[in-house]
Amino acid sequence: MKLAVETKRLVKVYRNGVRALDSVDIDIPMGRITCLLGPNGAGKTTFLRIIATQLLPTSGEAFVFGYDVIKEADEIRSRIAVVPQEGRPYLMVTPLDELYMGARIRGFSRDEARRRALDILRRLDLYEVRNQKIIRLSGGQRQKILLGRTLVSDADLLFLDEPTIGLDPVSRRSLWEDILNLKKMGKTILLTTHYMDEAEALADKLYIINKGRVVASGGVSDIISSVGLKTAVYIIADSPGVEEELSGYRFEHIGNKYLVYVEDRKDLFDLVKLAVENGYIITIKQPSLEDVFIKLVGGYEEVYS
Ligand SMILES: Nc1ncnc2c1ncn2[C@@H]1O[C@H](COP(=O)(O)OP(=O)(O)OP(=O)(O)O)[C@@H](O)[C@H]1O
Ligand SMILES: [Mg+2]
Repeated sequence: MKLAVETKRLVKVYRNGVRALDSVDIDIPMGRITCLLGPNGAGKTTFLRIIATQLLPTSGEAFVFGYDVIKEADEIRSRIAVVPQEGRPYLMVTPLDELYMGARIRGFSRDEARRRALDILRRLDLYEVRNQKIIRLSGGQRQKILLGRTLVSDADLLFLDEPTIGLDPVSRRSLWEDILNLKKMGKTILLTTHYMDEAEALADKLYIINKGRVVASGGVSDIISSVGLKTAVYIIADSPGVEEELSGYRFEHIGNKYLVYVEDRKDLFDLVKLAVENGYIITIKQPSLEDVFIKLVGGYEEVYS
């Protein structure tokens, strides 16, 4: 598969001595959505700024469409567009003005810039509000305008640094739809987030990073299965015989609930059968990305301490 971004042993040590990236190898395939998931301070923005040629690495290599971020930054800049973390559009202009100006800055003629701006406003469901001042629009609409600014550029590679932060669940989903549509248009997207559900919904490829290191990578389900977490099975039963029936498993007894952790599918199947035959209530909780994240990243207490 062709790569839009490739880094090798990328290191960033800031002047104050913070090692924000510690030998990071990340490959971003073309035409896909790649997510960087990690807690605060993991190094996500640092990585993104290096490959966006806004920040120099301390050592290691990074290539964007085959161009070196240090020696060929100009080649890269015309091919990428960035939504910065906590970016804000200008509030006193209209969405149409904002996107029109974005297109003009990228070198499109007046007519072409207007045509592109209107087209993108339609795609992002902002056409109705195109002539209202941005200050009168909602947070979700403002985020869409930032996304729109990357789109008028016609760049093939988009960097979105926590694009849905602070949005309500409905606006977040609407933005997810927009991001998935960008993929359908053939764009390559790198998105950073610390929302598990966002990574689960969008990522074709996921990197979990913590303290400047990649701790897991691959497809979401590959990552979940590679960590080897068990499936939790809850059985609710007041029947006195249930403990005997579960005697072949390691289980915990909590009130009238029995919790069994299973690793293989056969055990899971047998427990479902047992529950169905005896009329017990059974609930199965497969390990989620959040369980994996907590296992790999070590819980929030450690992260914030
Ligand atoms: N300009 C800077 N100078 C010094 N240290 C910095 C600078 N920018 C970031 N850092 C430090 O580098 C580390 C990584 O920061 P970075 O912003 O890349 O994390 P992040 O994963 O984007 O976090 P968040 O989820 O909070 O945005 C942190 O310890 C941070 O304090
Ligand atoms: Mg950040």
